[in-house]
Amino acid sequence: MKSLGLINGNLVDLDENVISMEDRGHQFGDGVYEVTKVYNGRCFALKPHLERLYRSLRAIRIPATYTFEELVEFHELLIEKSGIVEGAIYLQITRGVAPRIHSFPEQVVPCLTMSIRPAGKVNKELWEKGVKVTLIPDERWLRCDIKSLNLLPNILGKQQAKEAGCYEGVMVRDRHVTEGTSSNFFVVKDDVVWTYPASPLILKGITRTIVMDQLAKELGITILEKAFETSFIKDASEAFLSGTSTEIMPVTMINGNKVGDGEVGPITRKLQMAYTRLIDEECERK
Ligand code: PDD
Repeated sequence: MKSLGLINGNLVDLDENVISMEDRGHQFGDGVYEVTKVYNGRCFALKPHLERLYRSLRAIRIPATYTFEELVEFHELLIEKSGIVEGAIYLQITRGVAPRIHSFPEQVVPCLTMSIRPAGKVNKELWEKGVKVTLIPDERWLRCDIKSLNLLPNILGKQQAKEAGCYEGVMVRDRHVTEGTSSNFFVVKDDVVWTYPASPLILKGITRTIVMDQLAKELGITILEKAFETSFIKDASEAFLSGTSTEIMPVTMINGNKVGDGEVGPITRKLQMAYTRLIDEECERK
């Protein structure tokens, strides 16, 4: 079992020097990406991840030079050749390699790089007991719906959260709580789940969509896509994050204040269990 890379369809070792200095991803962050989890040797929710990848490519006008089937094949190849059973696959497509000018170079060929690494299960203790988060200003651009390589505000926000002893930084724009630096954010009040509406101001997470369109429906939980202010959190009984790596993570403390009674609430717990069951089913995990 070892981490592996794949560049434009060819397998490589992750420490091989194979990316050009003048790749536009390297120089401008001119590209898009996806992260997919592997459970029991199978990709979870690969189809919606690839559909979002094509939407991101269209949004920044990078031509799609690989078919859906080819991308699926590359994911399977990485799993097979690495022998990784529990892991994460990172995929990025940049506009390609060209001398550095801002406008799109002519006849440039997009560059696809992928990697697979082992990823352990989500931290059991945090999953059981919940995490602390801190509120930070949302300093990103106005197209957060594109899964672009430009992640500086997210990186700085995550580091700020880490230094504050928190698992995640949850961002606030115009007094409204948008999302985490690498996750979506939800609160529960009066048995209704609230989350920021899908819009250019957040990433429409695949896990978020699974929670909303599948799990909540199955469990009869009402979810509202409605912006709420930071003051609303004081009255929330529960809060949680969702994301590919984060899965469904209870939030029990925000800016040093307990959420509800500070324990993981029943709605969050039900969603966590249902998400685990869905992974078990889709990836045939025992
Ligand atoms: N991050 N919001 C942001 C800003 C994100 O970066 C992510 C994912 C999410 C959750 O999306 P999904 O459920 O599709 O993973 C929400 C990935 C995992 C990352 O950057 O590593």
